[in-house]
Amino acid sequence: MIKFITSDKFLDQAANAYAVFVEQDFKFDQLSEISKKFFPALKDALKQREFTGKAHSNLVLTSADDSKLIYLIFIGLGKVNKTMCDLESYRRALASVIRIAQSYKIEKLAIQLPDSKLFNAEVEEFSKETAVISLMSEYDFDDFKTDEEKKKKSDINLIICSDKKNIAQIKKGIEIGEFIGQCVNKARYWCDMPPAHKYPKILADYAKSLEKETDLKVTVFDSEQISKMGMGGIEGVCKGSEQKPRLVVMEHKAANKNAKKVVLVGKGVTFDSGGLSLKPANAMETMKDDMAGAAVVTAAMRIISKLKLNINVIGITPLVENMPSGSATRPGDILKFYNGKTAEVKNTDAEGRLILADALSYAVKHYKPDAIIDFATLTGACSYALGPFYCGLMTKHDDLAEKLKRASLTTGERVWSLPLDDDYKKAVRSEIADICNIGNERYRAGAITAAFFLQNFVDDVPWVHLDIAGTAYGVPDIAYYRNGATAFGVRLIVDALICW
Ligand code: BES
Ligand code: MN
Ligand code: ZN
Repeated sequence: MIKFITSDKFLDQAANAYAVFVEQDFKFDQLSEISKKFFPALKDALKQREFTGKAHSNLVLTSADDSKLIYLIFIGLGKVNKTMCDLESYRRALASVIRIAQSYKIEKLAIQLPDSKLFNAEVEEFSKETAVISLMSEYDFDDFKTDEEKKKKSDINLIICSDKKNIAQIKKGIEIGEFIGQCVNKARYWCDMPPAHKYPKILADYAKSLEKETDLKVTVFDSEQISKMGMGGIEGVCKGSEQKPRLVVMEHKAANKNAKKVVLVGKGVTFDSGGLSLKPANAMETMKDDMAGAAVVTAAMRIISKLKLNINVIGITPLVENMPSGSATRPGDILKFYNGKTAEVKNTDAEGRLILADALSYAVKHYKPDAIIDFATLTGACSYALGPFYCGLMTKHDDLAEKLKRASLTTGERVWSLPLDDDYKKAVRSEIADICNIGNERYRAGAITAAFFLQNFVDDVPWVHLDIAGTAYGVPDIAYYRNGATAFGVRLIVDALICW
C-alpha cells in the first residue's frame, strides 16, 4: 500500500529516504541543500560513482540523521527536451524509486517533485501521473503466496514535496491518480488471476458489483439469454467448457444530452486452450490473460464513471472459456451471429473474433454509437509484428486514429497503425458460409485479416480495433509494469475520452 502525503518542505521531513530527480549533466548547485544537511561529501560521491543523471541511472547513498539511517536516492531523467514523450522518462525514473524503496523496505519516502513544466505538463496532470505510476510500480500479484516473508508487500508513506503554491493542485491530481492507479491495478489483478478463479460468472459478478461503487448501469446476460438472442459466436466458443458464458453491458451517461456516444468492447476469454484446435503447451501458458481486453474495458468504465466524463460511454465484454471437449465447437462447424451473418470455423483457436462478432453487432444495433473501439488479445501475428511496446491499431478512420495517437504520446501506451486496405478483405472468404474465421494463408498478415473478419460486424459505424496481444502481458524492462499483466489500454482510452 502507498499512502500519499503532500508537503512544501522536503528536507525537513522525518523520512527514511529522500529522492531527487536530476536531469543529465545537472548543476551541483541544485543539490547543495541536501548535501549540506545529509551528505557533505556528496559532490565527491557523485563524481566517484560517475553519476551524471543519465536516463535509467540511479545512485543510492546512505547517511545518518540523529543516528537514524537514511537513504538518499538520486535518479537520472536523462536529457529532457521539453516534449510530451519525455514524461515517459519521468514515469520510468519514478518507478525505479518506488522499486528501490520497496527493496530497502523504506517506510517513509520523501520525493522532491520535479517541475512539471520540464515535461510540458500542468502540475495537476503531473501529480496524477505520479500517483498512478507509484501505485503501478508497487503492484504485485501475491494472493497465492503463503510465505508472508516472501510477499513483497510494503507500506510506503510517500511524501510528495513541492512549492507551497502548487500543493492544492498536487492534492487534486493525486486524488484522481490514486483512483486511476487502483483501477489499473485491479485490471492487472484480474489478468494475473489463475483461470480457475475467474471464469465468466466471476468476472460478470465483479462487473455487476461496480453498480454499488459507481453510477454505472450494469446488465449481465446469462447463457440462456445469449442463446435466445442468437449470439452463436459467444455460445459456440464456450460450448466446450464446463463454465457458462456471460455478456456484460456497462453504461455511463453524460450529463449533457447532446454528448457523443462511444462503445468500448473488450475480448474476455478467461482461458484460451485453443479449443479442439488445441494450442501447444508453451503457447497455452499465458492464456489466462486472454481476458485482458475485458479487464481493460471494465477498469476504464469505472474510471470514466468516477470522473463523470461528459460523454456517453458503453462498455461491452463477452466472457467465455475456450475449452476442448465432446460438446465443443468443431473445426468445420458454422456459427450464426447476432447480426445474422454466418462464419465457418476452420480453427477453434481463432475464437476471439467469434465472440467479438456478437458484441460488436450488439453495439451497432442497440446504441448506433459515434465510434466503437475494441480491445483484444487477438493475434500472435500482431505481437510478433510489433513486440511488447506497441499495440496494433487498425481503422479506416484517420480522425479516430489521431485521437488515440495523441493519447498514446501523453500516456506512454503506444499504438502503431497497420493498414486496413480492402486488398486484405478477401482473405476471410468462405466457400460455404458468409466468412471464414481464419485468413487464407496466401494473404498472411494475421493481425489485419482478423480485423477484416471483425469489420463484418460494425456496419458503417466508425471503428478502431486495438490488438493488444503483445502488450497485455509480460512486457520486459519497463519498471512500472513488473512481470505479469500490464492492463495496457486503460490509461490510453481514459486519456483519449477525456479529450474526445
Ligand atoms: N489469444 C490468442 C492470441 C494471442 C497469442 C494472444 C499470443 C497473446 C499472445 C488468439 O485467440 C489466438 O489463438 N489466435 C490465433 C489465431 C489463428 C488461429 C488464426 C493465433 O494468433 O495464432
Ligand atoms: Mn485462440
Ligand atoms: Zn484467444
